[in-house]
Amino acid sequence: MRTTRVLTGITTSGTPHLGNYVGAIRPAIRASRAEDVDSFFFLADYHALIKVDDPARVARSRLEIAATWLACGLDPERVTFYRQSDIPEIPELTWYLTCVAAKGLLNRAHAYKAAVDRNAEAGEDADAGVTAGLYMYPVLMAADILAFNAHKVPVGRDQIQHIEMARDLGQRFNHLYGAAWRAAGGGGEPFVLPEVVIEENVATLPGLDGRKMSKSYDNTIPLFAEPATIRRLIASIVTDSSAADAPKDTSSNVFQIYQAFADADETAAMRRAYADGISWGEAKQALAERIESEVAPMRERYRELMARPDDIEAILHAGAARARALATPLLERLRRTVGLGSLLSAATSGGSAGARRALPGVKQYREDDGFRFKLVGGDGATLVTSVAFASPRECGQALARLRREGLAGVDRAQLAEADGIDADAVAAALAELAADEAARAQAKGAA
Ligand code: TRP
Repeated sequence: MRTTRVLTGITTSGTPHLGNYVGAIRPAIRASRAEDVDSFFFLADYHALIKVDDPARVARSRLEIAATWLACGLDPERVTFYRQSDIPEIPELTWYLTCVAAKGLLNRAHAYKAAVDRNAEAGEDADAGVTAGLYMYPVLMAADILAFNAHKVPVGRDQIQHIEMARDLGQRFNHLYGAAWRAAGGGGEPFVLPEVVIEENVATLPGLDGRKMSKSYDNTIPLFAEPATIRRLIASIVTDSSAADAPKDTSSNVFQIYQAFADADETAAMRRAYADGISWGEAKQALAERIESEVAPMRERYRELMARPDDIEAILHAGAARARALATPLLERLRRTVGLGSLLSAATSGGSAGARRALPGVKQYREDDGFRFKLVGGDGATLVTSVAFASPRECGQALARLRREGLAGVDRAQLAEADGIDADAVAAALAELAADEAARAQAKGAA
């Protein structure tokens, strides 16, 4: 059976609440128990730095989130559970992807565009308060995914565009470096293109005020708050003012949250109670009890874990070692693919049969007597040099004619040492350049 690698990251910028539990933690842990999946879950602590510049908050959130996922039943033997900042291959890959990322692609990222729009509304400079970290967010996220060749990435709807960008960057890299990757001994393509997974039947939990439960609305119930705090917050959920014994509306937040914790029978019974006219006080009490019965055993484990951060640290280290067992050899090969391997391998592969030549190139340059161009072959030999032109414009036009029409299109008097030109080598070099240009234009069109 082919196993599917499923990977997701959790930004460590806050304290988990019931909405995170219902919408992300619980479904992810359940899915990780399936036979044919190889799950990778990680703490996206580099991503946290983009949003949070309070070190204590980042540190606290990492501990709380790690303890939460473990307390909720994540099995670190089964799942590769690690911390992004323990994987040096991720920032390294981020740079390789940065160098193939079209700036225009990143301009279109929702989070960046939203910041620019807010600035426009406030009459500020477009990029006021925007860090390069926010701008690069999608590239770091692509590296998270591509470093492990994940097949599937479960995320919330707000993250769909980021997965599309990861695919785009992977595809672009595959296109530009596929041949070099294979020459470096890699099979197939450098990167698997990841697919986004949106859990359709997972509830978005409403918060205390009826909007989606979210830290940014300050309407959350912390997952592991004290029972008394949870009761108090539930009591503050906004409801309608119908009489105590009047039938109640099951579109209420109180019912919606109940349903997210209850099984089918419990939900049906509660629906009848609403129709019969349960009071909001009783409905809220039933909700608090139902949540408590699911959360209490996990809270117990959470407290134990929080008291032993060294155990959590050891679990994360073991996870990082497992994750790096994949990422280290991948990056070692990628490094050679882009030309950054050891100098020794360049010296040997340069001389051996089947070694990759560089592309031919053209160059315009200035000398004392004017402006010249030259065409250089893939082996570094100069194939054509022009005479000196009076202006860069004339020089550029003559070069353009050479590229378009070949030697036949240019006036021989414009070429230095015209007699010594190897016409076949020039034609081959020009063809190679044109093919490369077409391939690049296609890759850009696909972006
Ligand atoms: N950006 C994601 C979020 O805020 C977290 C994240 C970081 C992530 N890297 C990832 C999710 C890689 C999936 C895959 O939800």
